[in-house]
Amino acid sequence: MRLCFATNNQHKIKEVGALLDSSYTILSLSDIGCVEELAEEQSTIPGNSFQKANYVFQKYEVPCFADDSGLEVDALKGEPGVDSAHYAGPQRSFEDNMNLLLKNMANHAHRGAQFKTVITLVTSQTTQQFEGILRGQILYDKRGQGGFGYDPLFLPDGYDRTLAEMSLEEKNRISHRSIAVAKLVEYLAGRH
Ligand code: IMP
Repeated sequence: MRLCFATNNQHKIKEVGALLDSSYTILSLSDIGCVEELAEEQSTIPGNSFQKANYVFQKYEVPCFADDSGLEVDALKGEPGVDSAHYAGPQRSFEDNMNLLLKNMANHAHRGAQFKTVITLVTSQTTQQFEGILRGQILYDKRGQGGFGYDPLFLPDGYDRTLAEMSLEEKNRISHRSIAVAKLVEYLAGRH
């Protein structure tokens, strides 16, 4: 079965492709001739995930899944959430976003937060959503050089290193994205 992953991130395509059996061929957006930027106009992570997958399915008539992720901070009522990528402005700077988060968290002792990924699969037969959550704490200072986004500020529950202090393999074993991908893969494997 040909299945589009609504991304051009070859790393993500390879990662999912390696987890699926050979009856699935994972295609990127450019593989199906989609060169446009996909709109993310919804106010929730599941909403944006659905919007992207559904748009590609309707327009290109290829079964498709899309992911959308963000950081939800308890004390900030779930912010930055859907605005995670551009929290501090359209420049989408990881540094600016982290600095704004630290500022907004300055007076909060409760530091609980979660990363969330929602993957939406849209085919002619079904629409399914798969959620992955990683709980942790927002630190008062950045730690580590690895990863991306808010990783240097995020200490996963049960660990003494931030996501930015972990190897990519270690992060991938516990991440919100890998939890959601594992659920998608389990669902697809069960369809045979
Ligand atoms: P995307 O939907 O995967 O592009 O994620 C949107 C934004 O959420 C990113 O630009 C980051 O700011 C944040 N984010 C998502 N996943 C992670 C992660 O694993 N580590 C750190 N930040 C993340």
